[in-house]
Amino acid sequence: MADITNKEYSCFNPGTRWNDQDGQPIQAHGGGVLFWEGKYYWYGENKDAPTEAAGACGYRTDVVGISCYTSDDLYNWTYEGLVLSAEPEDINHDLHPSKIMERPKVIYNSSTRQFVMWMHIDNSEYTLAKAGISVSASPTGPFRYLGSIFPNGADSRDLTLFQDDNGKAYLIHSSDWNKTLLISELNSDYTNVTGNFSRAFIDQYREAPAVFKRGGTYYMITSGCTGWAPNIALYAEATSMMGLWGLKDNPCQGPDARKTFHAQSTFVLPLQGKQDAFIFMADIWIPNNLSESKYVWLPISFDEDGIQINWSDQWDLSVFDHPETGT
Ligand code: DGJ
Repeated sequence: MADITNKEYSCFNPGTRWNDQDGQPIQAHGGGVLFWEGKYYWYGENKDAPTEAAGACGYRTDVVGISCYTSDDLYNWTYEGLVLSAEPEDINHDLHPSKIMERPKVIYNSSTRQFVMWMHIDNSEYTLAKAGISVSASPTGPFRYLGSIFPNGADSRDLTLFQDDNGKAYLIHSSDWNKTLLISELNSDYTNVTGNFSRAFIDQYREAPAVFKRGGTYYMITSGCTGWAPNIALYAEATSMMGLWGLKDNPCQGPDARKTFHAQSTFVLPLQGKQDAFIFMADIWIPNNLSESKYVWLPISFDEDGIQINWSDQWDLSVFDHPETGT
């Protein structure tokens, strides 16, 4: 039977325009990917709105909503629409277009059968710094917004979620005006924090956290804090999510490695069905035209010294094939 789907891509082309299956540029910035029942779901900021000046951070776009795209091969993505939309009728709502909604991450709670999304919520000047929570019974939404909190009483900016093998989940968030990163344990339904938390990288100004686990080791890649401008990434290792987290090195290698290839981390995606196969996801921000921001997806490799991320203009998932196991 003829393939009636339009599979435009058979590889990744980091930093270039990436269209969805309708030929439209993907709008999923600061995002993350969930694998669920045989499909990948990419959630991210839809920044398809004019860029304007915004306080100390320089630039912002109005809140449009959170996009969701689905894929079974990670190259070709189908737009599923906005799974959480702006609330233009209520100026006081966290999701009013005049606010900030960034870095959404989604995990699935098998006890409640809910998809749970956390995101950075802010005012237009980035001085509120809260974490928002929403839930949905379906991965393609609509998500119901539950509200925003100061997790463990702390301010919260860039964030990610990590769900451990034992079902425990954590919110990892830049706090204390970005000086310190907090790791806050989530409650059993993932919609609040438990009160159990730890601090990492105290006074070191790290943001854009992306966490993954390989064997018994937890890894966290972060960026420095330079607004929309790229800077050096660093990774850390721990034997438990709560730490201690030991800073290791810059994972990026080669030209532009000290600028994270002009990108900023957002997520690390574990490839399904392959051991030790992880994709580093990052955003190339275009500060004065944020909707044009691009994506950098690169494979992570491991050696005795730690992890490495090398630039590649073009690559595909065969880089993860391990000849010794035939997988
Ligand atoms: C860096 C953060 O990582 C982005 O998500 C965004 O909040 C910008 N700062 C704003 O300047």
